[in-house]
Amino acid sequence: MLRRVVPYRWRVLRANRRELHTSYRENPLLRGYSPSNMDADRTLHAAYEDYVHTVSSPRATMSFELACVLLHTLQTVKPRVALDLGSGFSSYLLRRYQADCDPSCMVYSCDDDLGWLGRTAAFLRTKALPVDGLLLWEQYLARHESVVPGVLLHDLGHSATRIREVGRVLQWCQQGTVVLLDDMHKPVVQRAAVAEIRRRGLRGYDLAWATLDVYGRFSWMVMP
Ligand SMILES: C[S@@+](CC[C@H](N)C(=O)[O-])C[C@H]1O[C@@H](n2cnc3c(N)ncnc32)[C@H](O)[C@@H]1O
Repeated sequence: MLRRVVPYRWRVLRANRRELHTSYRENPLLRGYSPSNMDADRTLHAAYEDYVHTVSSPRATMSFELACVLLHTLQTVKPRVALDLGSGFSSYLLRRYQADCDPSCMVYSCDDDLGWLGRTAAFLRTKALPVDGLLLWEQYLARHESVVPGVLLHDLGHSATRIREVGRVLQWCQQGTVVLLDDMHKPVVQRAAVAEIRRRGLRGYDLAWATLDVYGRFSWMVMP
């Protein structure tokens, strides 16, 4: 009876969440996290509005909620190398962090679409930020696969690409990388992530409490 009443999508989401830590108290990186502290002077929000209205769209861009979590993660982990897959506002955020907080942090941003790398570069130039480290994903793997990033956002391409690349991304996680997986509201993407988290013995954290946005999107964090 219950199977008929509860839609398939929600049964899958509920089953997957059982595999994760769901309370904010359980996440050592986000203890004490407060989104209002991340952008007190609203400059990040102004840049976000600029990006979603002049370059992309709110739906195709990471949520502002996730942007705040990513910034907090960078400031807490202080990575030697930071990487975002799926270039765009996230690439701006990494370089903003580099310019304002840690010039020694190496930043890479990848896409599987040359056009979006070009639009990202144009946006970065308008903000007087460096455009080095923008690469096609294939090129990045050929040159830097042995480099273990400290913080990584996986927001690359469409669902099929997310699923295909999640194993490779979580391979780095085993070596110490903190991974943020976006668009985890999609059951097929969740299922692939849960399988890899389980297979590799990693810890997964549902960040819906911090990243749920107006479109119903949310993210997960994965740690060794
Ligand atoms: C969710 S987007 C990545 C967003 C990026 N991380 C950001 O913060 O803006 C995923 C992929 O969609 C493509 N993309 C980005 N913006 C787009 C747009 N406005 N319309 C269509 N595709 C887009 C890019 O190739 C990117 O890899």
